[in-house]
Amino acid sequence: MPGGNLLTDKKIILGISGGIAAYKVADWVRKLRREGAGVQVVMTGDATRFVTPLTFAALSGRKVYEGMFDPNDVERIPHISLAAEADLILIAPATAQTIARLASGMADDLPAALVLAHQSPVIICPAMNCNMYLHPATQANLDRLKTYGYRIVEPGRGSLACDTEGPGRLADWSYAKEAIYAALTKQNLADRKVLVTAGPTHEPLDPVRYLGNRSSGRMGFALAVTARRRGAEVTLVTGPSELPDPPEINVIRISSAEEMAAEVLERCQDMDVIVKAAAVSDFRPAEYSAGKLKKAGAGFTMNLTENPDILKTLGERKGKSPLPLLVGFAAESGDFINEGRRKLREKNLDLLAINDITSKEAGFGVETNRITLLNRHGDQEKIPLLSKEDTADLIWKRVADLLAQ
Ligand code: C5P
Repeated sequence: MPGGNLLTDKKIILGISGGIAAYKVADWVRKLRREGAGVQVVMTGDATRFVTPLTFAALSGRKVYEGMFDPNDVERIPHISLAAEADLILIAPATAQTIARLASGMADDLPAALVLAHQSPVIICPAMNCNMYLHPATQANLDRLKTYGYRIVEPGRGSLACDTEGPGRLADWSYAKEAIYAALTKQNLADRKVLVTAGPTHEPLDPVRYLGNRSSGRMGFALAVTARRRGAEVTLVTGPSELPDPPEINVIRISSAEEMAAEVLERCQDMDVIVKAAAVSDFRPAEYSAGKLKKAGAGFTMNLTENPDILKTLGERKGKSPLPLLVGFAAESGDFINEGRRKLREKNLDLLAINDITSKEAGFGVETNRITLLNRHGDQEKIPLLSKEDTADLIWKRVADLLAQ
């Protein structure tokens, strides 16, 4: 996993302020350590009233700092020495008080002093009562923190510990994790708009039956997540997939190839890059029956009509213009390089990722992929067996190079 590699040997300071969600971040310490990061916990005095420092010391394997000065270690001034060593500071949960303190640049507790003294990225995960969160003062403070370049991981909605309903729950780990990965990733797709398609399409035959395929959507979702991580504004148009909406991505769920074509073609003008990882059905039933088809004891023949080739249409519309960059996927067996070259030309693509469908480790439903990349200059790059996330990230590396040319 690239995320795993990204965190290996990274030094993360986890600043905990005094909210009930402090107990939730105990598990985050374990998750960060499992990915190879070293976690140094620092707590405000109020935070230690919710969860004891001993809990975090045991989970992080390190002493927990609470105060500005350590009487047992007079050589070290924690807010300076810890800040100098950190690759990233994560404040979670961030209470309204801590957010206000950070916004006004105060340094009267250890997490706040560390944030002022640091030179590494800062991520803030607010968690509080929804009225406190929605109060204009808190919102203005959060806006201010954004101007300092800090990443804010928006809280989730739901029932809160104080028996109210609304925004204010500490974000789920998956959101915090993505913010951490992004903060440690080169933002070479920043300000770029990308559209990714994913999953299968379902071509309806009657109200209960459809023609589909076994695509899980994993490759396309991994492409969306890794593009966002590099700073892109991402739209994901996906066919039916069990995967949940990834953080900070505009997800559009469709069912058939025609619906996918409509959504993609409507948005294509605005995009810098379009990656078509969806397994679009080439055909659909020629007729749709409004009522459920009944068996009549004499077999059944279905006529099929060809679906629009979305990628080819995009290639035709693009003509000779440099943007959007078009990236296609092709599932092939046999002489896949020559077949790939033909597709690249025919669909006017900039990059084509070819899956060898005869390989058990690549393709539908598995976590890994083994692709060969072809570009429009005829260059061929064999990519080793990687997780789909690593494969996706590597594709974005090549795309970022093409955009920079
Ligand atoms: O020609 P082939 O189906 O192998 O091409 C695969 C590529 O074309 C994929 O990127 C797929 O998303 C795209 N495609 C499409 N519309 C179709 C069929 C395939 O955009 N109707």
